Amino acid sequence: MSIYIAGTGSYLPERILTNADLEKLVDTSDEWIRVRTGIEERHLAARDQSSGDMAKIAAERALEAAGISGADLSAIIVASTTPDYTFPNTACLLQHALGCRPILCYDLSAACSGLLYSLENATSLMRANKKYRYVLVCGAEKLSGIVDWSDRNTCVLFGDGAGAFVLENRDGGDDHLPVSCLGANGSYSDTLKLPAGGSRNPASFETVEKRMHYIKMEGRETFKLAIKAMVESSNQVLTDSGVSPDQVALVIPHQANRRIIQAVAQRLTVPPDRVFDNVNRYGNTSAASIGIAFDDAVRSGRLKRGDLVLLTSFGSGLTWGAMLFRY
Ligand code: UT7
Repeated sequence: MSIYIAGTGSYLPERILTNADLEKLVDTSDEWIRVRTGIEERHLAARDQSSGDMAKIAAERALEAAGISGADLSAIIVASTTPDYTFPNTACLLQHALGCRPILCYDLSAACSGLLYSLENATSLMRANKKYRYVLVCGAEKLSGIVDWSDRNTCVLFGDGAGAFVLENRDGGDDHLPVSCLGANGSYSDTLKLPAGGSRNPASFETVEKRMHYIKMEGRETFKLAIKAMVESSNQVLTDSGVSPDQVALVIPHQANRRIIQAVAQRLTVPPDRVFDNVNRYGNTSAASIGIAFDDAVRSGRLKRGDLVLLTSFGSGLTWGAMLFRY
């Protein structure tokens, strides 16, 4: 049996926030943001629009691309740092919204690596049990709700959106892909976190007053660790699969910062035109970023059926990983 990406979809909310708009909010400049991050604009969800709402549209597009309906799915996994609720999980909300059977539905928390972790989960389920024929994997984020719009260190970086994959387990194939290498190191858990809202610091007047419900990040430290982790996990995947960098049609890294993307490409010795980069348009959409980028690559013709594509990501936890698929 082989696991294929049967269809992809993505959704970006209508409202666009440009660097010029941010200049009016905090002490920053279009030049600083472009030079340090490569970001020019990002999309923001409407006030009443949740991560689940965005995931639903991305999922419908992925189902359409795969030529199946919600009723054909056998599991849903949603990766998000900004789920609709702590509980119920967003995957259950999608199950209902997409008209699915009463199938396995769960959310997975691994921040920006959440989509890769979920793809690993999905492919493992599918390999273990043939009843999981079609699995929907979504990454969806409304980061605008947890960004401190008075903190220039973080508010210029993030955006909202959703990306989705429909994976299919087909009989008769003999492809050993996907091959993956995923990891984590919790000793860096303070580097990037949302300090309150969980059981450590439940929501209170004090946590709100101290602005603890917003993203806190040590940018420079995160930057260095991101490059190292993505390069090492990608190289491990290439070694384990016996694939050389020149056989990879496209590398799709987590879209956090153009300088990180370029440094990873350089160290992997992949030509720049084979590294996907749309961070200028969407900023960092955390767990959604690889799904949005993949769908962008498919719909713009950058990825063709049969191509080898290397995904790599990095995020809070710290978590990271790489996966090699045949599209
Ligand atoms: O999704 C995965 C998790 N996140 C990431 O991958 C983010 C990783 N880190 C980064 O992308 C970069 O570290 C940043 C873009 C966040 C920052 O870039 P940097 O080159 O590492 O800058 P820095 O943090 O070293 O700051 C340099 C200067 C500082 O001023 P001083 O201390 O040198 O006077 C900052 O206060 O730039 C200042 N600065 C800004 N200036 C204008 C920080 N943010 C801004 C801003 N506009 N928005």
